[in-house]
Amino acid sequence: MKVYALSDPHLSFGTPNKAMDRFGPQWVDHPRKIAAAWRERVGTNDIVLVPGDVSWAMTLEQAKPDLDWLAALPGHKVLLKGNHDYWWSTIGKVRAAIGPRMHAIQGDVVSIGGVAIAGTRLWDQAGVSFRDAIDWRPGPGGMVSAEPEGDRAAEAARIFERELGRLERAMAALAQEGRAAALRIAVTHYPPCGGDLAATRATDRIEAAGARHCVFGHLHSLRRDLATPLFGQRGGTEYVLASCDWLDFAPRLVASV
Ligand SMILES: [Fe+2]
Ligand SMILES: [Fe+2]
Repeated sequence: MKVYALSDPHLSFGTPNKAMDRFGPQWVDHPRKIAAAWRERVGTNDIVLVPGDVSWAMTLEQAKPDLDWLAALPGHKVLLKGNHDYWWSTIGKVRAAIGPRMHAIQGDVVSIGGVAIAGTRLWDQAGVSFRDAIDWRPGPGGMVSAEPEGDRAAEAARIFERELGRLERAMAALAQEGRAAALRIAVTHYPPCGGDLAATRATDRIEAAGARHCVFGHLHSLRRDLATPLFGQRGGTEYVLASCDWLDFAPRLVASV
């Protein structure tokens, strides 16, 4: 069994006025690119991690065509809520609406074929900045705002603390469930650390839970000409940025078990 990652598809089958084309030529018809690469790589029993910004829909009803489109692709899909997933109401309603082989997690853990996967959305983290890694030229991009300041910084800190509590619970569940699993994977929507992999309170918790990989998205329009690579291996954990534009819209292999 193989585990792949592809985050932030930002689908809009139910909200065609929100198509991603305006974010640059790479996004034109991007679901077609995703489906082609996905079908080429992913087998029926494989897993694809989709940690957030799944759909532009505002309601579950609007999100249905996007969820059905994902469900029709091969493999198990593990979904997490991103900051743009307004359609994601309560976890119970989300689970009732998504089809078989679609797994939604929110501060908890799921096990599929000996792979334990757990996580939460997270949020902007004080001291972690991607300002220099983003291509700010007009045209592509525009979905990642600058770091919060003033009142927004205080609000962001409050949300981050709440999310850190959820991460703690998710990682406790991962450590517990992971005892019988061949592999433990953490998923977050926001990166748990900066591109330089300096330790944070989030990475401390992820690594203490024995996660071999941590997969996340949220960042878009990253520069390809950076002097030092973004993310990678830190101790026993590989930090994988899986935003679909970063991956050229093809699921990235994370692990084979
Ligand atoms: Fe996104
Ligand atoms: Fe996001």
